[in-house]
This record gives sequence, structure tokens and C-alpha cells, in this order.
Amino acid sequence: MGIKQSKRSSSAIVNISKDKPDVLLKAEKRKKFRSFRSSGIALDGNSPLLESWRFSHGGKRIHNLRNSKLLGPIIDEEVERLQRQHRLFKRIWQSNYSAPMEETLKNGGAKILDVGCGPGTWTIEMAESYPKSSFTGVDFSPIFPQEKKPLNAKFLQANILDGLPFLDDTFDFVHMRLLVTAFTSKEWEEKVIPELARVTRQGGWVEFMESDIHYFNEGPTTQRLSNALMLFMKGKGILQPIDSYIPNSMESCEKFEKEIKVEEKSCFVGKWAGELGQLAVDDITKGWAAVKLPMSTMMDVKPSEYDDVVQIFAKEVEQYKSSFKTWRFFGQKISTTSSSAITTPSSWEQSQ
Ligand SMILES: C[S@@+](CC[C@H](N)C(=O)[O-])C[C@H]1O[C@@H](n2cnc3c(N)ncnc32)[C@H](O)[C@@H]1O
Repeated sequence: MGIKQSKRSSSAIVNISKDKPDVLLKAEKRKKFRSFRSSGIALDGNSPLLESWRFSHGGKRIHNLRNSKLLGPIIDEEVERLQRQHRLFKRIWQSNYSAPMEETLKNGGAKILDVGCGPGTWTIEMAESYPKSSFTGVDFSPIFPQEKKPLNAKFLQANILDGLPFLDDTFDFVHMRLLVTAFTSKEWEEKVIPELARVTRQGGWVEFMESDIHYFNEGPTTQRLSNALMLFMKGKGILQPIDSYIPNSMESCEKFEKEIKVEEKSCFVGKWAGELGQLAVDDITKGWAAVKLPMSTMMDVKPSEYDDVVQIFAKEVEQYKSSFKTWRFFGQKISTTSSSAITTPSSWEQSQ
């Protein structure tokens, strides 16, 4: 990632002495950027990457991250679940994004960031589809591949809540999928949306994809599961309802053009709805199983009873012909013409 002049407002300008000549300031920032980067990325066996997980007695990799709001902590199962989920969403949407990026991506030279990329399935598929553009995936949990990836894709370990290790106005397109349960509303409004807007170039696009927690035509057990999940999210201060909250908070951040775009798709769940419905019910039941511990606690049932609850869910969706909604929200970063100041990630400002 090269150092770049940015045109942002003075509020985000790094607080270095104004007496220093411009060339010195730039050199200091480059040095800082390098040290920030090298502490964030690790490629060898002793690296901070591996500190993010440990092995359980059963040999499964488990997250160590204390601030993780992830419901499913077992890494290998989580990777498989997310890859399956990617296939499901690809089938539902018949595309990987909705923002008007096709031409830019095809023409080449575009820079794309996928935040909370998980196993990097979206990032890699996009990198393969648009070989002339470059793709970066970041996740605070290093479950992304470190070797098997296209040449135009790379992955870094970073926590967006600590600030992303990129300069302002770097990316043409910033994507974030299924992270709604990862942040409190305060984090979402004060850190996540401003940080995504900061690293997006003026005129670039930010896109979110999320799914509803509630089902249409819910049976009683499905309702119990959804309510328990809602309770869990409420207890953690996680935002709701998603479909109005995300566009509203994008608009109130004032970095995006007015009228955030919202697209919606519904997915029927169950064998009754054919192959896609079958894929959905398989994915969702495995998803519910992956969060057995927190969900059984929230529902006040024994873990063994919870397995039965999940089985009943799978039967109910057939009986009630359930469905759920998924959304894409996308907005274009406002272009301004003023200021030629160099600005920095918020993490640099904190360390001043
Ligand atoms: C449900 S997964 C979605 C993964 C991927 N976006 C996808 O659609 O397949 C959420 C991911 O966000 C990551 N994550 C959660 N909080 C994060 C944070 N503060 N900074 C960076 N990544 C985060 C998790 O480690 C996890 O891999």
C-alpha cells in the first residue's frame, strides 16, 4: 500500500508539529505506517497470528480473542460454515456485490477491501473474477489463507475497532458482510462506519450485506430461537433492526451521498422450496448447531436438549414454509475538492 496524498478535512489530520518541513513529516508518517504494518501482519510460526487461537484437548482450534463477539468459536468448523454460507448467498443474489463497480473492476487498477473477510471466500472469488484489480481482506482472526490465494489477493490481520492500517482514501470499493453481530451500536456508529468511510476514496463505494434474524412464517420453535438470538444481541448492545439501522447510520455519518441504496432478497427455507431451500435449511441448521453453547444458555435449555430444538427447527420450516430476508446496503463516498493534507488512520492519531 503506497503513501498517498489525501483530501480530507482537517479534523483527521495527524497531530505532528507544524514547524517541521513537509518532507520530514511525510518521512515520519511512512516510518510509522511501516511499523504499524509489520506489527499487524505476521507470516511465520512465532507470529502474533497464532496467538489468536489455541488448540482444545480435542485438537480443535479455538479463538483466544477476548473481545470477540463471535458466537461460534471453533475455527475449522467456522471456516466450513462461512464457506457454505458464501455459496448460499451467491445463489440467492446471483452476484457478489450490488454497488455499480463492474466497469471499474473490469478495467483494472481498482483497489478493493473486504473487512471481516473470515476465510476470504468472497475476496478470493472476486480476485479471480477481476484479475486486473487488487483485493485485500482483513480480519482480526487470521482464518484467511496465507499461501493458497490469487496473486492479486492479500490478507492482513487487523481489528477495525483499533483502526485499519491504511491511509485515507485508499480503496475504490469497501465491502463488509455479516458483521452485524460483531459490534455494539456505539462501535458501529463511532468507529466502524467512520473508519470504512475514511479508507474509501472519494467517489468510491462502501457496501454491507446482512441477513434478518427473524423468519417469515415462523413456527414456535423458530420464534424461540430468533428471540433468544435477539436477546443475546440486545445484551451485547448490538444494533437492531438491521434494515433501517445500517442505512440510517451511513446517512448520519455524513461521508456518503444522500440516499443510501438498499436491495433486498428473500430466501425460502426447506426442502419444500427446492434445491436452494434445501441448501438454506442445511446451512441454517448447521449455523444454529455451531452456536449451541450461547444459545442453549440464552434459551435456558441443556445443550443436549438444544440439539432437539435445532431438529424441530428443521421440521418447522417445512411445515410453516418459512423464509428470511437478506439485504445489501451501499453508499458512495462524497467527493470534496478542498485540502491537500496528508491524513492518517485513527490508530496513529491515538498514539500521538
Ligand atoms: C460471520 S463472519 C463473516 C465472514 C465473511 N465476511 C463472510 O461473509 O464470509 C464475521 C467475521 O468478522 C470478523 N470480525 C469480527 N469482528 C471484527 C473486528 N473487530 N475486526 C476485524 N474482523 C472482525 C470475524 O473474525 C469473522 O471472521
